[in-house]
Amino acid sequence: MALLPSFVFPSSSSSSSSSSSVPSRTRRLAKLCIVLVVLMCAKSSLVFFISHLAYGQVNPLMLVQTSSDYRQMLYVTRNNYSHFVRDLIWRSVIRDWGGEGDYEQANTNRRPVRLEQWMIDKEPEYFKRLERAGMQFEIVRAPNNELFSWNKLLHSVCGNFFEDDATCKALDFRFGDAFNTTKTIRSEKRRKRIVWLSRGTNQRRAISNEKFVYNALKSAIPNMEYLIINSSILKKNPMVKQAEMFTDVDVLVSLHGAGLTNMLYMPEDSLVVEIMPKGYAKDTYMNFAKRLKLRYKRLTADADGDKGAKAGKVSLSTRTKYAFNSKEDKERKFKRDVIIKLHDYDIDSLRDMLSLEASKRK
Ligand SMILES: *[C@@H]1O[C@H](CO)[C@@H](O)[C@H](O)[C@H]1NC(C)=O
Ligand SMILES: *[C@@H]1O[C@H](CO)[C@@H](O)[C@H](O)[C@H]1NC(C)=O
Ligand SMILES: *[C@@H]1O[C@H](CO)[C@@H](O)[C@H](O)[C@H]1NC(C)=O
Repeated sequence: MALLPSFVFPSSSSSSSSSSSVPSRTRRLAKLCIVLVVLMCAKSSLVFFISHLAYGQVNPLMLVQTSSDYRQMLYVTRNNYSHFVRDLIWRSVIRDWGGEGDYEQANTNRRPVRLEQWMIDKEPEYFKRLERAGMQFEIVRAPNNELFSWNKLLHSVCGNFFEDDATCKALDFRFGDAFNTTKTIRSEKRRKRIVWLSRGTNQRRAISNEKFVYNALKSAIPNMEYLIINSSILKKNPMVKQAEMFTDVDVLVSLHGAGLTNMLYMPEDSLVVEIMPKGYAKDTYMNFAKRLKLRYKRLTADADGDKGAKAGKVSLSTRTKYAFNSKEDKERKFKRDVIIKLHDYDIDSLRDMLSLEASKRK
């Protein structure tokens, strides 16, 4: 009993007097809050320290040396492919290689792209391929708060989720050139290739009649080559293999989602078709496509208040995040996190977009 803090099991003397019960309860609550905050800080520090041990970056001073912005970058990018590739690597390249304004006016005064060792170690072969295609790297010693402060990367290069097109500089380098092996390149006279990026039965956002839509398009436009790629196929493969899958794609069709990051490897002037639930219009991938010199078309499909739509299932953390914000929660439901059903007229629109591509010459 004596080992436990007194506010957990208050002594009977302090709680017996009713006159002092209100202030002492407040004090106990305040103490509990302080203990909780201390425990939370201790936990995140421990997680951070252990994960650094795992990366061989043992430095006991790191906890005081790194900014919370840097730790945020590690937290967001380390285990998420699209954040890693799109938000960390791409932005680092733009930071060190980017020109101002148009793609055509890209800066030729390149300096080696600065990365930390753990980034390369994630998949050395991926960076070797980029090196062979002409990109140079310079390892900076971790932790380098300035370069990889998450806030700085997000707000001085392309903005959060590529929303700030004005700060998104140009790049005269095609990532696909690093991964276009003879195996992935097909003959000139080939049919156009459509990749349908499937979210399958993803509970959060998906197309409920996806198979039907896919088959309808396939039979309406038979003179194209069709390929389905989904997250389990992608996850099974290393980054190099994932990249290779997209180097020879003419049209990429996908419901809005992180998988669209793979457009990074597509050839110049190829087409990205993004299906967006009505009421949700995030320009991340539109701006990304623009920066990659790809063409972009958007199909806005019913969802908001539509009979075919169902609210998607989201994680507990998402629900917690929106628990006290009913307006944003409403925005989220049926707009961002939604299972949509494409109507006949949506399928007609898709067919028109794609048949136009099929008839185009290479
Ligand atoms: C990565 O992050 C994005 C955006 O925050 C999210 O949509 C996606 O599901 C995440 N991917 C994984 C594999 O966790
Ligand atoms: C890959 O792309 C680069 C640049 O366009 C080109 O020089 C190279 O020949 C291509 N490789 C193959 C195998 O087609
Ligand atoms: C992905 O596609 C493969 C091959 O078609 C299939 O076996 C698998 O179930 C799919 N995974 C998901 C999550 O849809």
